[in-house]
Amino acid sequence: MTQTHQHEVVIVGAGGAGLMAALYASRGADTAVLSKLYPIRSHTGTAQGGVCAALGSEEEDRPEWHTFDTVKGSDYLGDQDAIEFMCQQAVETIYDLEHMGLPFNRTPEGKIAQRYFGGHTNNVTGQPVRRACYAADRTGHMILQTLYQQSIKNKVHFYDEYQVLDVIVEGGSARGVVALELATGELHVFHAKAVIFATGGWGKVWEVTSNALSCTGDGTAVVMRRGVPVEDMEFFQFHPTGIFRMGILITEGVRGEGGVLINDSGERFMERYAPHVKDLASRDVVSRAMYLEMREGHGIGGRRYLYLDMRPETVNRYAEADGRVRPDGTPYRVTGSELLAKLPDIIDFCRTYMGVDPITQPMPIQPTAHYAMGGIPTDMFGRVVVDERSTIMPGLYAAGECACVSVHGANRLGTNSLLDIIVFGKHSGMQAAEFARGSNYAPLPKYPEEATVEALEKMRSADGKERAADVRREAQEIMEQDVGVFRAEAGLRQAVDRIGELKERFAHVRVQDPGRIFNTDLLEAWELGCLLDLAQVTAYSALMRNESRGAHSREDYPERDDDNWMKHTLATLRPDGIELRYKPVKVTRFRPMKRVY
Ligand code: FUM
Repeated sequence: MTQTHQHEVVIVGAGGAGLMAALYASRGADTAVLSKLYPIRSHTGTAQGGVCAALGSEEEDRPEWHTFDTVKGSDYLGDQDAIEFMCQQAVETIYDLEHMGLPFNRTPEGKIAQRYFGGHTNNVTGQPVRRACYAADRTGHMILQTLYQQSIKNKVHFYDEYQVLDVIVEGGSARGVVALELATGELHVFHAKAVIFATGGWGKVWEVTSNALSCTGDGTAVVMRRGVPVEDMEFFQFHPTGIFRMGILITEGVRGEGGVLINDSGERFMERYAPHVKDLASRDVVSRAMYLEMREGHGIGGRRYLYLDMRPETVNRYAEADGRVRPDGTPYRVTGSELLAKLPDIIDFCRTYMGVDPITQPMPIQPTAHYAMGGIPTDMFGRVVVDERSTIMPGLYAAGECACVSVHGANRLGTNSLLDIIVFGKHSGMQAAEFARGSNYAPLPKYPEEATVEALEKMRSADGKERAADVRREAQEIMEQDVGVFRAEAGLRQAVDRIGELKERFAHVRVQDPGRIFNTDLLEAWELGCLLDLAQVTAYSALMRNESRGAHSREDYPERDDDNWMKHTLATLRPDGIELRYKPVKVTRFRPMKRVY
């Protein structure tokens, strides 16, 4: 028997964006959060190195410089009005978190400490600037804990371990969601005035990823299946430093603290690829450089990994060569115990998972699928827009990694993701509460869970010729091989075809577990359907974009083509295939320039 609940604002996802939305929505509306995980297990908890804002705690910095760096980092595909809004909002939002109790690291004077990250610069000197506020290398974990405590205090209703399987759209507006309660296997209908999706990314589309098992893009797929186009799916970021083979993130904060990338000859190769900012170039540039090094046989022992070296003697040697100084003008020097205090988690990960001690040994690393720049299209208040004229779907909102505002364009700068979730989480929550205050509950359709019941029934009764694990592994291999850091037409075409074939095979996947209680077999199969849909639109959008920009690097079209491609892709999933449309990038102040590093 399906149970029905009513809340003015229903938020799907309990990561940083969902909880920030909940906190602000709950100030003006009855608010519920549904999460397939226990909230503080959300993937935001793995974000390590920092959240950026031009506070100028350590040295001169300005929101205008942050804006320009983000536009440039996006390879000019980010919408500049939204980027300016985010960078201006950053400062007050960080102080807001500080006042909620977030334990940021401190400078000796007691200000919020800041560290270097790729692409953050002083726009006058062109030199790196300390803009990333951090809580050791547990910044996301601290954000999550702080926001969860505040949401509890604000009496947000939590439905933990509820998997949302559908969004209810009727008469062109969102009216709620359908969810499966993991503990019982029962379906629940949530009737809402406003629904906010904050379901995170889909790194599990690739073989080697920094993303948790839960990052399967469910919210984005659910919304897409209801006819909303998805934006800029071809832009997926590979973080340069994942633990070799496992993909677990080693924060860019390591390079911010002076760590360097080294090839098999012991060379700090980023000096050749980005002579000014070197290891702190933006992620697309560093990941490409690493692939080229490995392709030319400079991987360690000729293999598919390189070293990230943060041994104090290495850090100090290169800091001296670079003329790096502390804020008080004294030479920059580190000790092992200082590094341990600032980067405790990654040191622990390396010791635990690889038996490597980063204080005395270099870390074996490779680029790892990390972050979706694209997603559900929204305006800067989180309202979902459904076409190239930016028509709003009433009652539907999205925030965080599942959304595309677009502030990251073709390539996100490190630490702008945590900023994105707090700024746009907050504004989507405020907007949704305001919308709810001014509207009544629109009636639900007669049998809102009908499509969900059918989909689950299909998976329970398929012929069972295929296993979900096989289909998933093959999809991940295809995406890693042909829709990774470098792409070209033949590989992309092959990826589109083969993912299409896997979707046909998916129809034969039958869940083995017939039970109802915590049926993870059923959920994993359902999540695989989401991964396949997202893989297909990603590969197809990438195939059709004949240029190289940010994280989308086409070997057959190596140049950025501003005359033809200063536009966002909008991909709609139709029963007979994918339809692509385009909308122009919003340019306010910064005309595209060649990126120099
Ligand atoms: O390297 C990191 O700590 C990751 C940060 C980010 O993706 O923004």
